[in-house]
Amino acid sequence: MKTLTVASIQNSPEFGNIRANLHDLMGLLPLGCDLAVLPELCATGYQFRCRDEVMEMAEVIAPGQQPGPITTRLSEAAASSGITIIAGIAERDGDKLYNSSVLIRPDGSRHIYRKIHLFLDEKNLFDPGDLGFSVVDACGVKVGMMICFDWIFPESARTLALKGAQIIAHPSNLVLPWCPEAMITRSLENRVFTMTANRVGRELRTDTPLEFIGLSQVVSPTGMRLAQLGKEGTGAALATINISESHKKITAANDLFADRRPEFYQEDIS
Ligand code: ACM
Repeated sequence: MKTLTVASIQNSPEFGNIRANLHDLMGLLPLGCDLAVLPELCATGYQFRCRDEVMEMAEVIAPGQQPGPITTRLSEAAASSGITIIAGIAERDGDKLYNSSVLIRPDGSRHIYRKIHLFLDEKNLFDPGDLGFSVVDACGVKVGMMICFDWIFPESARTLALKGAQIIAHPSNLVLPWCPEAMITRSLENRVFTMTANRVGRELRTDTPLEFIGLSQVVSPTGMRLAQLGKEGTGAALATINISESHKKITAANDLFADRRPEFYQEDIS
């Protein structure tokens, strides 16, 4: 039986105050946990006004390149604490800008995911993710990443599960109300742990005021909420999980993946 202690971190960043936001995030990392997921755009804040503003705060995070300051600070934290950290960061790659998530292991190695389904104004600020969904080894288990609005496309979590994810890390800046409940279904229908790390607070930098809904959570492969935070306040939704629960056996006669009938799932229904 392999157990891990995991935490979905909930913060309340002040837009643009990267230094203070990082300081707050460091204080929210639970000592002794194995895996911590931080929210989307966790150190910059969310509501950029234009692409130029993203360009000013975005940084290099891709493996094999010298990373920017947020990635560097999180890598130091991973190394000193032994925690594998997953965090949402605005990524710059040449003239491209991505709403990305980076997985940083304590040994400094990292892996990125670039948000595929962009939400609302993000379509004017970021390029759509171009790397697909992938699953990597971390803390001795298989971890996949998706970001916030990816939740409303069941294909996101399904693809990660089919690729072998046991845990889906889900950095978020949720404003619509439905996701925390929907992620129970995403967990259940894929038999995976899901870790949604959301933020709280408001941003009013454009004509569209945003209120972030908190409710960060950890959900088990049978749809049990193992931990959840409130709609306000910061903290860590902390759970000890037994990774063997992410198996696909539903009954003695049913295997979630072996029983799939993909020949009947085609999009051409004419
Ligand atoms: C979102 O995708 N940040 C709602």
